[in-house]
Amino acid sequence: MSDSKNLWGGRFTGEADRGFVDFNRSFGFDRRLFAADVRASVAHCNGLASAGVLTDEEATKIIRGLQTILDRGLADAGYFDNLEFEDVHSFVESRLVELIGDTGRKLHTGRSRNDQVATDLRLWLRDAVDDLVLNVSSPQEALLDLAESHLSAVLPGYTHLQRAQPILFAHWCLAYFEMLARDRERLANCRKRVNVLPLGSAALAGTSYPIDRESVARELGFDSVSRNSIDAVSDRDFCVEFVSAGSLIMVHLSRLAEDIIIYSTAEFGFFELSDAVATGSSLMPQKKNPDSMELVRGKAGRVFGHGTSLLTMLKGLPLAYNKDMQEDKEAVFDSFDTVSTCLGVTATVLRNLSINKERARDAASTGYMNATELADYLVRKGIPFREAHETVGRIVVHAIRRGLELQELSVEEMRSLSASIEDDVFEGLSLERTLGTKSQIGGTSPERVTDALAVARKSLLI
Ligand code: ARG
Repeated sequence: MSDSKNLWGGRFTGEADRGFVDFNRSFGFDRRLFAADVRASVAHCNGLASAGVLTDEEATKIIRGLQTILDRGLADAGYFDNLEFEDVHSFVESRLVELIGDTGRKLHTGRSRNDQVATDLRLWLRDAVDDLVLNVSSPQEALLDLAESHLSAVLPGYTHLQRAQPILFAHWCLAYFEMLARDRERLANCRKRVNVLPLGSAALAGTSYPIDRESVARELGFDSVSRNSIDAVSDRDFCVEFVSAGSLIMVHLSRLAEDIIIYSTAEFGFFELSDAVATGSSLMPQKKNPDSMELVRGKAGRVFGHGTSLLTMLKGLPLAYNKDMQEDKEAVFDSFDTVSTCLGVTATVLRNLSINKERARDAASTGYMNATELADYLVRKGIPFREAHETVGRIVVHAIRRGLELQELSVEEMRSLSASIEDDVFEGLSLERTLGTKSQIGGTSPERVTDALAVARKSLLI
């Protein structure tokens, strides 16, 4: 490696080992920080000029040079190719010196790559968080559209994957909507701690030049400046928070994927995936496989893995900066890419999902899912709930033996097990009634769900 390509040649007389040079290099992935690096360099240059460290002329020359580099980099991906730079910071600085000569060598006054990389990563991540918040809203919107266009659809609700109580399909949609709503809040919360300026911390002890950090922060849109220089260059808790928020998004998408996968089987048959997001089998002509949802479920593990990598990388590090921390970027970048793609694919799956309303209604009307209603009926007749529960259990056993649903038994049969049962029992056992009684906040009654949909829709506009 020639001295012009690294930033620390003076101390060295020996040649670097080729294998180590490659091993040490991060330019292959940290080039994603290019625009952030240039932006932060411009702000640093302005800081140096205001502090009187650079003349206005020098600063203007540097800033023009940086702007040219940015324009070229954004216009031509080839600008980065086949160049053996150690990292994005040495790349930008070398390009600057190449372009404007020795003045470019003054830019690094009063900063270190340690505060530079922390600043770049925070700038990048702030935009990534904003993007992701928008991306989360696309499956949310798809869920609302799906719910609103199938307002009368029902599903069997499960606990332990055993039929439990009927629910509105829209209520199921809203459950996932809520999870994603919290995910958005978590991202917004994480953004607050991302949006703090480390620049001015220099290597670890703070800068010795009179740079007005507050004004640099304002220029870069940071809410505040870091309060401790050692902490600012050495923690990556904001990366962990980001990947954690991403991991929870993946947990939610993965559970949604799992529901969609099983509900699309012949055994359940409530949903059918569009051909646009399914695949066939190379051997079995009849197959339609939900690969899209399986990949979303599968990719969750990879984001969790990044979280574990980051935590493990950080836990034993002595203060302050250590090169281990270069590992932060791929974890963050890949988490962002994976979560974004999975959000997009999930939205597409939802937008194209068919609901087999008849089959779902049949399933929701059978399997004794109105047994709780019958117990509640007995409670209304003055029987203590515990006793009612026991009695209905016996009625269910009787019905199973007879191969009938509760509403298919005669009043006499039911009365033989509980004298409190009268002719009015059947009204309480219908699917409509079962749904309609769940009318408190958060319940699955049609009125509640209609209100909840309106509230959800409104929340997306904020
Ligand atoms: N590529 C490095 C990283 O990602 C940049 C910071 C290097 N600093 C240093 N003192 N070697 O962390």
